[in-house]
Amino acid sequence: MISADMYKTYQPIRAHPNASQWRTQAYEEVIDSLKQFDFVGKRILEVGPCYGYYSFWFDGNGAEVTAIESNAGRYEICEGLNEFYHGSVNFIHGDIMEYIKDSNADFDVLFLQNIFHHLLRHYKEEAFMLLNDTNIPWMFLTMGSTLGPWSLNVPKGNIPLMILNHSKYRLAKKIGKWYHRDTYFFER
Ligand SMILES: C[S@@+](CC[C@H](N)C(=O)[O-])C[C@H]1O[C@@H](n2cnc3c(N)ncnc32)[C@H](O)[C@@H]1O
Repeated sequence: MISADMYKTYQPIRAHPNASQWRTQAYEEVIDSLKQFDFVGKRILEVGPCYGYYSFWFDGNGAEVTAIESNAGRYEICEGLNEFYHGSVNFIHGDIMEYIKDSNADFDVLFLQNIFHHLLRHYKEEAFMLLNDTNIPWMFLTMGSTLGPWSLNVPKGNIPLMILNHSKYRLAKKIGKWYHRDTYFFER
């Protein structure tokens, strides 16, 4: 299932034999900023887990994780790793925007790691439904410092302000930084 050249892929896989050659530092830096919080018993909704690097960390730290991945191949790898790690992540193959329309699922934490700008590019203002049509009280978000010309024309560095202005989230705190990206904790 996991081929030998997977080290070239987007996200590291801890269990892979080539894992020690992969660049995991950025991922570990995000995890370091998450370590200041207690996720035990928290119900987490993760959007776009890729190969589940963060999903499995939350799972291993006592959270109840649901992770929605739209890419079929990545979703399959997540399911394979869930079995391999004896994990209990609830991976769902689907598009988050459809999922939030169809589901009344209740969560404590929304985890958006390097994904919200993709939703903005694809769904424009509609992407804010994810932040406004759910009642998730806490959000963790990491994204680039600029959104590019295709987004909502947000000045560089003003991503937290944009979230605060366009959504029900009212408080933002920077909790970490890696490479050119900042990690934020938001509260409603
Ligand atoms: C840039 S990658 C980030 C992956 C991971 N969160 C990380 O930080 O390493 C974005 C991921 O979100 C998935 N994705 C993109 N649009 C999505 C959507 N509408 N619903 C669910 N997943 C989506 C992609 O397939 C991809 O795995």
